[in-house]
Amino acid sequence: MQAPRPTSPDAEGRCGAGAAAHPGAATHPEIGGPFDAGATTHARRSSLEWPAPAGVGQVVLVGAGPGDPGLITVAGQRLLTEADVVVADRLAGTALLRDLPARVQVIDVGKCPGNHPVPQEVINQLLVDHARAGHRVVRLKGGDPFLFGRGGEEVAACREAGVPVAVVPGVTSAFAVPAEVGIPVTHRGLARGVTVVSGHEDPDHEALVRLGGTLVVLMGVTRLPQLVDGLLQHGLAPGTPVAILESGWTGLSRVTRARADEIVGTAERREVHAPAVIVIGEVAALAEERMAARAEEGPALP
Ligand SMILES: C[S@@+](CC[C@H](N)C(=O)[O-])C[C@H]1O[C@@H](n2cnc3c(N)ncnc32)[C@H](O)[C@@H]1O
Repeated sequence: MQAPRPTSPDAEGRCGAGAAAHPGAATHPEIGGPFDAGATTHARRSSLEWPAPAGVGQVVLVGAGPGDPGLITVAGQRLLTEADVVVADRLAGTALLRDLPARVQVIDVGKCPGNHPVPQEVINQLLVDHARAGHRVVRLKGGDPFLFGRGGEEVAACREAGVPVAVVPGVTSAFAVPAEVGIPVTHRGLARGVTVVSGHEDPDHEALVRLGGTLVVLMGVTRLPQLVDGLLQHGLAPGTPVAILESGWTGLSRVTRARADEIVGTAERREVHAPAVIVIGEVAALAEERMAARAEEGPALP
């Protein structure tokens, strides 16, 4: 008997006899994309490798994951050790950098909240200049390069300069940091969807409340009072569980939980600081016992 032929996932990740090959997703005019229009999933070359032959200057954006060096991808780790130059962010796994071969030049362009020592345009230029000098450059970025990471701008800068560039995705803090403390961002019966927003922007509070499900906020510590106030004013139930997860996957992680109408005061008392992932929704009450024991609980969660 013949074994069934393996099939590729279709555009929504379904596998099976009915799943079509990727129909050729549209490419962004600046960023482009790994899929050429009309190409099938089978036809394209893996992009988890250097985009050009050895000896040619090139750049790969690599997601370092949220903190623990074990959370970089296998491909990302390999490229890191093969690089000539690594341009790294503050949140991009210092442990990973420590283990690099001595010949690898590491350039720290780390940014702190409110303090941007190296402007984005300078980072873009660094990537281009090192690639033009013939180097293989890894741009190591925290979490996933394309989620609030300005990775798209860096890819566009390389393409505009004619520098071969590729992206190796990473494990994003938006989902992995909640997972560390036992919070699934979706959960049958509690949250059928998840929305990820940046706390730097002033969001459409009404739309976020109407959507329901889980709200995950990155870069939200400084503007937590405005965010929570806006959500409560637009109908978020005051008893909605909120968890603030600091420094996930670093050995220094800390959980602060409270009801929505108590979280600002609780966070102030605890001197919560960045980096932190804020989870708003019923799933926030699911933090594991061992983490909850280290957390200050606000008034009992419903
Ligand atoms: C500029 S965004 C980059 C996000 C990143 N691209 C990602 O996919 O995780 C930085 C924000 O991500 C969150 N973050 C990243 N790493 C984190 C960690 N280990 N623990 C908690 N929050 C983290 C924080 O909200 C931080 O302010």
